[in-house]
Amino acid sequence: MKKLVVKNLVKEFQLSRKQMMSQKTTNPKLVAVNDLSFELTPGVIYGLLGPNGAGKTTTLRMIASLIKPKSGAIYYDDKDINSNISEYRSKIGFLTSELKLDEFFTADDTFNYMGQLYGMTDEQIAKKKEELFASFGINRFKNVKIKELSTGMKQKVSLAVSLCHDPEIIIFDEPTNGLDVMAAKEVENFLINLKDENHIILISTHIFSLVEKLCDKVGIIIKGKMILDTTMEEVHKKGSVEDVFFDLVDKEDMQ
Ligand SMILES: Nc1ncnc2c1ncn2[C@@H]1O[C@H](COP(=O)(O)OP(=O)(O)OP(=O)(O)O)[C@@H](O)[C@H]1O
Ligand SMILES: [Mg+2]
Repeated sequence: MKKLVVKNLVKEFQLSRKQMMSQKTTNPKLVAVNDLSFELTPGVIYGLLGPNGAGKTTTLRMIASLIKPKSGAIYYDDKDINSNISEYRSKIGFLTSELKLDEFFTADDTFNYMGQLYGMTDEQIAKKKEELFASFGINRFKNVKIKELSTGMKQKVSLAVSLCHDPEIIIFDEPTNGLDVMAAKEVENFLINLKDENHIILISTHIFSLVEKLCDKVGIIIKGKMILDTTMEEVHKKGSVEDVFFDLVDKEDMQ
């Protein structure tokens, strides 16, 4: 079984003068992720929860290999991802609100472009596009420029594009952000399908109900530290995800 192992990740940011002022700090060094370790396995949806600024997006960006940790390592299938980073990247499907689609492309153009970047043939692109556009209800809008799409439709296009190369590892930062209940439900169902197909899935979210419905494991991160990393079964011995989350946040605040 191919596991993705995150070991002792640390990420620091050097703050600009402006950032120091807005964050009301005199320390130019910000520890965004502090010694974070956890494991992801196929067929399991792992939900990362944490307050704003806890370090969720930074963690996901490191796992997607967009940014490098200061220290620590990530192993996939027992190999350090840096031993063959391009092979690792070809297996990653990454979604974050920080990566924007080109506003002047259509969904169709965007998908074709990304498919070509991944070295897919025209036939492979067409087949995958048909499947994903149908799943996300994009077909009616596929020739509309991204800038003219609703927020929800843009998000669905981003999701479809992130999955064009059939990645083994799915990393979604707040995947249902900005979606209405119907669209959110579609995304949830899609994630369940991916889980059933044995993908490795990591999502970050602020939505407790999403974690309750979808996740098999949960990690709670506060101020860059993993405070809890366990199965939903274990969480439910103590209460709901929401109860456990606020309990831990309160304890952190008292320290
Ligand atoms: N490029 C950067 N330069 C400086 N500081 C950064 C940078 N990226 C993130 N940070 C800081 O690192 C910390 C963690 O940010 P991150 O975006 O990972 O949090 P998050 O848990 O995703 O929060 P949210 O729930 O708001 O999305 C924050 O204090 C943030 O301001
Ligand atoms: Mg974030």
